[in-house]
Amino acid sequence: MKYSQTFIPTSKEVPREATISSHILMLRSGMIKKLSSGVYSLLPIGLRVIRKIENIIREEMDKIGSIEFQLPVLIPAELWKKSGRWYAMGPELMRLKDRNRQDFVLSPTHEEVFTDIMKDHIKSYRDLPITVYQIGLKFRDEIRPRFGVMRAKTFLMKDAYSFHQEEDWDSLQKTYSDMSRAYKKIFYKCGLDTIPVEADSGAMGGNKSEEFMVPSHIGEEEIVQCPSCGYVANMEKAVSKINEVSYTDCGNIELYHTPNVKTIDDLSHFLNKGREYLIKTMVYKAISEGEDKKDENQYVMALVRGDLNINEIKLKNYLGAVELEPADEREIEEKIGIPPGFMSPVGLKGIRVVADESVRKIKCGVCGGNKRDYHFVNVNVERDLPNIEAFTDLKTVREGDFCTNCGNKLKIFRGIELGHIFQLGNKYTKAFSMTYLAEDGKEKYPIMGCYGIGVERTAAAVIEQNHDEDGIIWPISVAPYHLYILPIKYAGKAKEVSDRIYSNLINQRYEVLLDDRELRPGVKFKDADLIGIPFRITIGDKGLAKGKVELYERRTKKKELIPVDEAENILKEKIEQEFTKYRIIS
Ligand SMILES: Nc1ncnc2c1ncn2[C@@H]1O[C@H](COP(=O)(O)OP(=O)(O)OP(=O)(O)O)[C@@H](O)[C@H]1O
Ligand SMILES: [Mg+2]
Ligand SMILES: [Zn+2]
Repeated sequence: MKYSQTFIPTSKEVPREATISSHILMLRSGMIKKLSSGVYSLLPIGLRVIRKIENIIREEMDKIGSIEFQLPVLIPAELWKKSGRWYAMGPELMRLKDRNRQDFVLSPTHEEVFTDIMKDHIKSYRDLPITVYQIGLKFRDEIRPRFGVMRAKTFLMKDAYSFHQEEDWDSLQKTYSDMSRAYKKIFYKCGLDTIPVEADSGAMGGNKSEEFMVPSHIGEEEIVQCPSCGYVANMEKAVSKINEVSYTDCGNIELYHTPNVKTIDDLSHFLNKGREYLIKTMVYKAISEGEDKKDENQYVMALVRGDLNINEIKLKNYLGAVELEPADEREIEEKIGIPPGFMSPVGLKGIRVVADESVRKIKCGVCGGNKRDYHFVNVNVERDLPNIEAFTDLKTVREGDFCTNCGNKLKIFRGIELGHIFQLGNKYTKAFSMTYLAEDGKEKYPIMGCYGIGVERTAAAVIEQNHDEDGIIWPISVAPYHLYILPIKYAGKAKEVSDRIYSNLINQRYEVLLDDRELRPGVKFKDADLIGIPFRITIGDKGLAKGKVELYERRTKKKELIPVDEAENILKEKIEQEFTKYRIIS
């Protein structure tokens, strides 16, 4: 492609709304353009990158026997009502009406549609297992769209779904492992280092889920890792051992005057007691599936040791709630009748109380007095808090907690989630009454797995991992072009040589961008570095007089003069060799 014939609106300006490298560089290199918050157009070189990532994904999906479809994004709400997610999903689901006032959704994911399609075709156990996928648009009304295409309101996803015979968890596990391996290959081929991380699988329980993370300080996910045994898990799901305290009983529970003491730290100082003796009490509002109004019965009190914090995802899963939010102070005062900051479950009725395991053994402890400026002291949890319905793991793991596998200290780092694989079970097949005739002559529900990859987010992550102060450094496997030809002046001999190399290479299916613009060389060099094509040759009269052109490698910034007559062959060899770095021999 000649530069003048394509559309690459590069810019020097750092756009104000962009704070992370990939977002800045995608805008500056003319890959994307913002239309509105969380909505971006892909411009030609952005599209070329996306197409390459899609093709890498396609190749690996085909290899594991996953079958490609293309589904609509405009979906009748009826399907979403059937699955229950019309009610469960909340404001992230984009809803609209057609001219006949019928409800529709712009699909954020496609379990419903694929289940609906397969329902009519899977009749017998002989039709299972089957894995289907598409690469298509998704819509999600994200609360905080940010980081450009990393978290957008509309984006491309590869989403795959597998169907297996009821109780054939081995078959599901096989597809799940195939996907996991395919994902590793996909990300490797894109030039990314990813870490598979054990992830939360929601309230359904027991089912497996794994996320593919790129470690990055800008990542929105927190990952817990044990450097000794290799345990890795998303914070939402991570478990740990904590320092145990041996408590001894110190008498009967008593109300104690604690004026102006509100925070855990104040309390710890005031009573001169370690935070391990304090019982932290939080009140949440839990919304269950299908409900759209909130009432008192849904308030839940959660307890954790004073030096720890509640993990809201764990609590939400324990409760089987679809949404969970901390109750605000006014609500607590009005609905439960306790001054915030002095809450505890002592003597409380009509509200569910759950506690983290760390609370179980506390004796001589302290909790709120359910009365302004008072706390209970000498609290013996077993004796004084019989209304705790369960002790379970509800705590947030801290850096330095101990690994439950090997006892070593855990580390925490941040990551970007690029892909997610998930064992679903029969939630959707049941909701859609999708049955097949099993070998024993009975009608049964297939079980499912689902498997997603964010396509633009993958491109952005590649940039996060591959850039420098001058711009992007594309791995050749996903680069918009392989070679950038930069004639110092596109005229005379330099033009002639540029045109010749250009047409010979594109005829051999190499992807070449020829900078034929009449601009100062400095501007062209800057653009070439910004766009980040792996190889560049600079063609100028001075070099040509000696029969040479300059070969430049974007990643290493190494320059070398090569004979113009051998340029084509050297370039081809370099490009081929570069590709081998992203190929998997297996
Ligand atoms: N708003 C978004 N913009 C761009 N890509 C997204 C967005 N939401 C999800 N993705 C991509 O789609 C993949 C599969 O979707 P999934 O529903 O598992 O994401 P998610 O759990 O909602 O992700 P997140 O926790 O980041 O919101 C994600 O791993 C991610 O790569
Ligand atoms: Mg999300
Ligand atoms: Zn360990």
